[in-house]
This record gives sequence, structure tokens and C-alpha cells, in this order.
Amino acid sequence: MACSTIPPLLFLSFLPFLPSLATSNIVHLGSSLSATSNNPSWNSPSGDFAFGFRQLNNTNIFLLAIWYAQIPDKTIVWHANTTIPVQMGSNVTLTVNGLTLNEPNGQAIWMAQPDTTVNSGTMLDTGNFVLSGTNTSVYVWQSFYYPTDTILPTQILPLGGMLYSKLSETNYTKGRFELHFTNGDLQLNPVGWPTEFQYEPYYSSGTANSNSSLSGLQLVFNQSGYVQIPYENGSTFKLLPNVFPNSTIKYYRATLDFDGVFREYAHVMSESSQSWSIVGYIPNDTCANAMSPLTNWAGSGACGFNSYCKSNGPTFSCHCPPEYSFIDPENEFGGCAADFSEDCGVENITSNPEDSYGLKVIEGINFWYGDYDALGPYNRTECEQACLHDCLCAAAVFDGTFCWKKRLPLSNGRIDTTVVAIFKVTNNSSAPLGDSSDKFSNFRKDKQVVWLSISFGSSGLFNILLLGVIFRIIFSRRRRKSREAIRHSSVFETNLNVFTFDELRRATEEFKEELGRGSFGIVYKGILKYGSKNQVAVKKLDKLSQGGETEFKAEVTAIGRTHHKNLVQLLGYCYEGPHRLLVYEFMSNGSLANFLFRIPRPDWYQRVQVALGIAKGLLYLHEECSTPIIHCDIKPQNILIDKLFIPRISDFGLAKSLAFNQTRTHTGIRGTRGYVAPEWFRNIPVTVKVDVYSFGVVLLEIICCRKSVEQEFEDEARAILIDWAYECFREGTLDALVDNDDAAMNDIETLRRWVMIAIWCIQEDPLRRPAMSIVIQMLEGYVEVPIPV
Ligand SMILES: *[C@@H]1O[C@H](CO)[C@@H](O)[C@H](O)[C@H]1NC(C)=O
Ligand SMILES: *[C@@H]1O[C@H](CO)[C@@H](O)[C@H](O)[C@H]1NC(C)=O
Ligand SMILES: *[C@@H]1O[C@H](CO)[C@@H](O)[C@H](O)[C@H]1NC(C)=O
Ligand SMILES: *[C@@H]1O[C@H](CO)[C@@H](O)[C@H](O)[C@H]1NC(C)=O
Ligand SMILES: *[C@@H]1O[C@H](CO)[C@@H](O)[C@H](O)[C@H]1NC(C)=O
Ligand SMILES: *[C@@H]1O[C@H](CO)[C@@H](O)[C@H](O)[C@H]1NC(C)=O
Ligand SMILES: *[C@@H]1O[C@H](CO)[C@@H](O)[C@H](O)[C@H]1NC(C)=O
Ligand SMILES: *[C@@H]1O[C@H](CO)[C@@H](O)[C@H](O)[C@H]1NC(C)=O
Ligand SMILES: *[C@@H]1O[C@H](CO)[C@@H](O)[C@H](O)[C@H]1NC(C)=O
Ligand SMILES: *[C@@H]1O[C@H](CO)[C@@H](O)[C@H](O)[C@H]1NC(C)=O
Ligand SMILES: *[C@@H]1O[C@H](CO)[C@@H](O)[C@H](O)[C@H]1NC(C)=O
Ligand SMILES: *[C@@H]1O[C@H](CO)[C@@H](O)[C@H](O)[C@H]1NC(C)=O
Repeated sequence: MACSTIPPLLFLSFLPFLPSLATSNIVHLGSSLSATSNNPSWNSPSGDFAFGFRQLNNTNIFLLAIWYAQIPDKTIVWHANTTIPVQMGSNVTLTVNGLTLNEPNGQAIWMAQPDTTVNSGTMLDTGNFVLSGTNTSVYVWQSFYYPTDTILPTQILPLGGMLYSKLSETNYTKGRFELHFTNGDLQLNPVGWPTEFQYEPYYSSGTANSNSSLSGLQLVFNQSGYVQIPYENGSTFKLLPNVFPNSTIKYYRATLDFDGVFREYAHVMSESSQSWSIVGYIPNDTCANAMSPLTNWAGSGACGFNSYCKSNGPTFSCHCPPEYSFIDPENEFGGCAADFSEDCGVENITSNPEDSYGLKVIEGINFWYGDYDALGPYNRTECEQACLHDCLCAAAVFDGTFCWKKRLPLSNGRIDTTVVAIFKVTNNSSAPLGDSSDKFSNFRKDKQVVWLSISFGSSGLFNILLLGVIFRIIFSRRRRKSREAIRHSSVFETNLNVFTFDELRRATEEFKEELGRGSFGIVYKGILKYGSKNQVAVKKLDKLSQGGETEFKAEVTAIGRTHHKNLVQLLGYCYEGPHRLLVYEFMSNGSLANFLFRIPRPDWYQRVQVALGIAKGLLYLHEECSTPIIHCDIKPQNILIDKLFIPRISDFGLAKSLAFNQTRTHTGIRGTRGYVAPEWFRNIPVTVKVDVYSFGVVLLEIICCRKSVEQEFEDEARAILIDWAYECFREGTLDALVDNDDAAMNDIETLRRWVMIAIWCIQEDPLRRPAMSIVIQMLEGYVEVPIPV
């Protein structure tokens, strides 16, 4: 027995040498590459592609990548999505378990480990790096199954496949765009950075069908350079047809570029030069990338916030408005910031706006969405004045009739020849552009008043009195404007249905099926016989203001005028005798409370998106309606979940408008225990910040999947969620908050940031709580979250 084991051992020890003589491109077990500046690699048989380490220009960072080895650009087509950047001296090793990328200190930062044993690796001539078992033509792992931003001829993106863009031309971190092939449809979506919230698509191939056998099958990049979607019946949808099949073309690739455009390139070689040429691209209007055709869309658009996009065929460029500059001068996509400070604290108005601000106009630029007011019919002068005198107004877009006021940040800036954009800029900077300066000289007529206030600057009291007077004048002028706005706003009237009580009684079968009990009455399920939304929720209001029909209608119309994807839509109402009913869309997935406190708990990423949705709904109520709406009772029971798992706030507009006439004694407190802000108990005015407080509590509930008050805990500190969360934050034991939730623990950075945001929202002092617009920017990572105290 002993001697029979000797020959195989001998054979094994020779094994590594034998095949290397035959085919030099096979990578054997135990082979290793080390990240050094000479970019070591394993090459494909033809030498077209290489797999190995690439040092990024001017950095000490490496990528484990696949690239074209025979062209000067050495364009990268794939890279390993390591958890942290690869340092000099890291190595990648092939073992029976697969590929492992280790840091110099031995820690693994990336692995390609199939379930079965690995025998060898190969860099193929297609650009696919594969691992094989004993049979080298059976691949147990392949880089084509884990694409990054590029697909190559012969590569297929199956249902559920995706690509994601780089952050910038030179930064390979996951960026702002994703390409998905889902339900037979190819979609391009912007994603929040770095939360990875997936926004509405800005491109859809339209190849999905509710009958799945009529939907697109997969995304195929064939060897003739066609990117297309085949159907079951044999026909194909040609996404990017190859317009120049040409024998001088050696390579094709299709890349979701960092700017959100999916471009197909051909490498064209002539005697004198060689370069990548663009074969085709989507979307066809490149400025429309990152721009959703739907309203209520968040995000900056193709360019960063406060900048606008000019399309130039397959490419586009970003530009700053006058007296704004790129935040990062090296990065034109990073957005712009004003060169002046946009002070808008009411307490801080120290001068007449006409004195501090001027206007600059650019013809043919529009910023989509983010209007907070629409005034009209106005002429251009009125529009300019309206913006100048409104400290919230950063810019206005005038379309000849209406004046759309915008606050910062401006988003989705693009060419639109039907409008002019008017920017408010400071007067302290250089002389205004010739065009706009003389037009606005009439704005300077109040200068003397301010001059007076300055010359009496030594007399403090007098100065304060004078400032008060100036402030009054400005303020009353502004009020006059907003009254005008209301008078002109009839074009925005809604189409609310008016129901008879009898109709609703029949629709709900005599109020048979109760869906829930809210603060204002009981909700019943109903079926309407017409309309597309035939399932409805009917709310029978009980405690109501004593107001008459006109008042009720005005209030309900105000609610009906709100439209946002994170709000439950009011469809109609009934006002008949003693009956007051509201008819809403029906939400099939119950409330956030059912969603959150069920077992097993919902996935962390789903929760992240739900929290963002709620924040956006609140932002809309607080800052995007013509009159801010304070909800007063934000809690999981009042947030419904629709069939797409989008959170929708319900019961808004009722607190203030319909039942808010009581003085705020203890009994008058509108909110619900555990969610109400401390100022309800004090004699200070209730503002939108009460909702911010409640949002903070709900955010913690979403993070932890537990109720804000949980009696069952002996430990008092643990029973109250906000106290416990604060304690965990202070002591650095955040993992206790998300016990057994691996996804959340792996995303500890987001977790920490979100807990900090929640702590800011639940500050005692309402003034210290951030506005919802800031909350969203912090949630999405656009704004640094300061350490809360
Ligand atoms: C890398 O990609 C794999 C496969 O797509 C995915 O499972 C993994 O979560 C990604 N890792 C990182 C750090 O993004
Ligand atoms: C790769 O790195 C690991 C950890 O630093 C080390 O143990 C191993 O010897 C290295 N392998 C090679 C072939 O350099
Ligand atoms: C290797 O796998 C291929 C494809 O499945 C098969 O055709 C071939 O016969 C296998 N070879 C061996 C030696 O098993
Ligand atoms: C690296 O630098 C070279 C030469 O300056 C340039 O041609 C190339 O585009 C750069 N590559 C990247 C990825 O920035
Ligand atoms: C890429 O961008 C990220 C996020 O801004 C940054 O942390 C990282 O250092 C950048 N990487 C390189 C190589 O510049
Ligand atoms: C789906 O389409 C196929 C092909 O037209 C048809 O045979 C099948 O009946 C359809 N199925 C449904 C559920 O409509
Ligand atoms: C194949 O199916 C697609 C999608 O259902 C349809 O648009 C196309 O006309 C069909 N082609 C043929 C030849 O039937
Ligand atoms: C690629 O697709 C195009 C269009 O569908 C077709 O004409 C061409 O023959 C295909 N090429 C290959 C190699 O399959
Ligand atoms: C191929 O493309 C090159 C560069 O665009 C052009 O010069 C050449 O004439 C083309 N050849 C054919 C056969 O179309
Ligand atoms: C872009 O494509 C859309 C539909 O796909 C089409 O309606 C539009 O006219 C095209 N625009 C341009 C500039 O080609
Ligand atoms: C008023 O503005 C000045 C200058 O921007 C700032 O330093 C000060 O803190 C502000 N005051 C208040 C009450 O916001
Ligand atoms: C704009 O309207 C105002 C008020 O209606 C009027 O006084 C002014 O003359 C108009 N300006 C122009 C340029 O029409």
C-alpha cells in the first residue's frame, strides 16, 4: 500500500510544468499576480485582452481589471468591485476555491469563489475571464456574468442583469447610473449617490409586455456589433444597430458611461491613428439622461445641481449660471454653487433686497421641477420683481405668461427655447451683464432708505426701529404678491369628484369593511363602478370644524390640489347634510406599521427607500405646496404602502385645515404619543418642524424595525426608542440597534449617518431641527451630516 502512493505524488508535483509548455495562456492553481507599477497580467491567446492589476493614473490605487492589451488606450472593460481600493503590494491568487484578492496585510477584499472546485483560469479572446473545473470548457465562474459598466460582443445580459457606471472619467467607484434588464425591458436609471436609491428611469426600451411570452428575452451584443433584444418569436428589437460594419474595425464595446449615456464604441484603426468612435447611443437627447419623464422626480438631472446641460449629439456639457461656479473646478458634472451667499434668514434681512441683489437673464434655459410657486398671468418685469423681492427665490423661469419661482438647488437644467431663466445674483460682485443691467435700474429707487439706516448706524436703537419699518414694507409687499398669486391660480384647480352620500353608502356596502381608524374618523373599503381606480378608501370624518360648505370645499380643494407619488391621492368628497366623507385611492399593502413590525423584517434596502419616500412626501407638503401643509400626526399608521411598495403619506391637510381650531392645551395635542414634538407642550407656535420631529422618530423605527415605545423592556432606556438610539450612538454601539440584520450591519456607514440624521430631527429646539430639504440631502449623502450633540 505504501509504495502505490508514490507514483501519483510524483505526478502531481510535475503537473504545474506540463501544460504550461503546451498552452501558455492557462492560469494554473497557485498562480498569483501582485499589484506593482508594471501592471502584471494574464493575457488571452491572441493578446487582445489582459487580466491583472492596473495602476490608476497619478494614484497609488490599483484595479483588478480586464483591459484591451493591444491598443494605446488600454481601455478597461471590467474591474473587480472590491470593498476598499486596492493598494500597492496586494495580490490575487488562484486556488481550488477560486480567485482571492488579498491586501498586503493578508485581508481578503474580493473573491470569485464558485461552489465547485476550480482547476484553472483562462483569459479568453472575447474578453471573458473564466474559471474552469476539471473540464476546461465548462466555466464555473466568468467575468461576463458580473459585468461592471461594459458589455462586449458575444456577451449577454440576462433578465435581472445590470451595468453600473463609474463615478467619473477617472474614478472607478460605483457612480450615479444603472442599466437594468428587467421584465424584458431595458431601462436606464439614475441612482442616489451614495444611497443607491433607484430613481425613475430616463430611458426605457419599451420591450416589456404583461404577457411574458411577448416580452424581450435578454440583451445580446452580437459579433457584428449589434446590441439588441430578441423576442421569443424570432424578431429582435435593435437597440443600437451597427451603422458602420467595417472591416477596419477590430473591437466593439458598449459602455454605460459615467455621464449616464449608454454608448456603443468601435475601435477604428487607420494608418495614422486609432481611436474609439461612437456607433450609437441612448438616450438620443443626451441631456435627457438622468431626467425622468415623470413628475415628482428627485435628483439633479444630467448635470449637477445648479447647473444646466447643453447637448451636442452623443455628448453634452454642463454650465454654471452667471455668478455661480463649479463646486469642484475639476469636475463639471459636480454641480455649481453661488459665488455669493444666499442669506434668507428672516431675522437677517439687513437691507432692501433691491439693494443687495440684481438679476441676470439667460434666454432658453429651463430648470425642470422644484418650482415652489407659479404666478400669473405676469409680464416679464413683474416676474423679475417677484423673484427679486422674495428671499426664497433663487431664480425664476418665465414662459411669457407664468412666472415659475425656484429655490435652490436648481435641478434638471436644460435647453428650452420657449422660456427665459432669471437668476438672482448679488450686487456686490462685478458689474452686471450689459443686457440685464439697465432693465432693472428701476429696482434701485429705495436706496436712500437703506443709506439712511447705514448712516445712523451708530445709533443702535434707531437703527433697529428703522430696520423694522423696512422689513414691514418688504413683507407687506410680499404678502400683496402672494394674494395676487392666489387670485390667478384658478388654472391649477383640481378635478375632485363630488359624491352623494347614497353613492358612497352603496360603494362601501353600507360601510361594511373597515380598513382602519384614523384620528379623524373611520376608513372603509369601497368599490366605485367607474373610473380606472375603482377600489377606493372612504373616510367618514367625525370631529370637524364648524365651518360651512364653502370653507370645507376650499380646504378639501387644497388637499386635492396636492399631487406627489409619496402622498395618498384624494379623489373626491361628499358634503351632504351632516355627512362629511373623503374618498382616497386604495392602498393594497396596508400601513408602514404592518410593513415594519412584521416578521421577518423587511429588507434593509427596501427600508432605506421607504424612508426616502416618506421624506420626499413631507418635503412636498412643507415646501412645495403653495401653502405649507403641516401634517401634525406622522406615524407608521398614517403612512400607507402601495402595490409597488412606495410609501404614501395619508391624512395630511386634515390637522391644520379641518380640526385645528382648538387651543393647544393637553387635550388639543393632535399628534400621537411617542411621536409628538416637545413644543406641543409649550406655549410656542407649532411649525413644520413638528413633522420633522415625528419623521426622526419614524426614521429610527424604520432603521430598527421596532416601535418607538415598547413596554416590554424592563430597562426604561431601552423602552423609549429615541433615548436608546441616542445612547447607542453616543457609546458607539450602533450594531445593537440592528441586531441580526446583516444587510444593515454591512452598511454601517449609512446606518451611522441615518441615526445621526434622526438625532438631528428629534432635537428639543425646533430651530435646531433641519428642514426636510436638508434632511433629504443628508439622507442621500449630498450634504455632510454634522455630529449631533
Ligand atoms: C460585487 O458584485 C457582486 C456580484 O454582482 C455582489 O454580490 C457584491 O455585493 C458586490 N460587492 C460590492 C462590495 O459591491
Ligand atoms: C499574497 O499575499 C499574501 C498575504 O499578504 C501572502 O501570504 C502570499 O504569500 C502572497 N502570495 C504571493 C505569491 O506573493
Ligand atoms: C467538457 O464539457 C463539454 C461541454 O459540456 C462536453 O462537450 C465535453 O464532452 C466535456 N469533456 C470532457 C472530457 O468531459
Ligand atoms: C492616463 O494618462 C494617460 C496619459 O496622460 C491618458 O491618455 C489616459 O487617458 C489616462 N487614463 C485615465 C484612465 O485617466
Ligand atoms: C473616487 O471618488 C470617491 C468618492 O468621492 C473617493 O472617495 C475616492 O477617493 C475617489 N477615488 C479616486 C481614485 O480618486
Ligand atoms: C401570450 O401570448 C402568446 C403568443 O401570442 C399567446 O399564445 C398566449 O395565449 C398569450 N397569453 C396570455 C395569457 O395572454
Ligand atoms: C414578435 O413579437 C414582438 C413583441 O411582441 C412584436 O413586436 C413583433 O411584431 C413580433 N414579430 C413577428 C414577426 O411576429
Ligand atoms: C447580428 O444582428 C444583426 C441584426 O439582427 C444581424 O444582421 C447579424 O447577422 C447578426 N450577426 C451575427 C454574427 O449573428
Ligand atoms: C472603414 O472606416 C474607415 C474609418 O472610418 C474608413 O476610412 C474606411 O473607408 C472604411 N472602410 C470601409 C470598407 O467601409
Ligand atoms: C429621440 O427618440 C424619441 C423616441 O425614442 C423621439 O420621439 C425623438 O424625436 C428623438 N429625438 C431626436 C432628437 O432624435
Ligand atoms: C446673519 O448673517 C451673518 C452673515 O452671513 C451671519 O454671520 C449671522 O450668523 C446671521 N445671523 C442670524 C441670526 O442668522
Ligand atoms: C407689466 O405689468 C405691470 C402691472 O400690470 C405694468 O405696470 C407694466 O407696465 C407692465 N410692463 C410691461 C413691460 O408690459
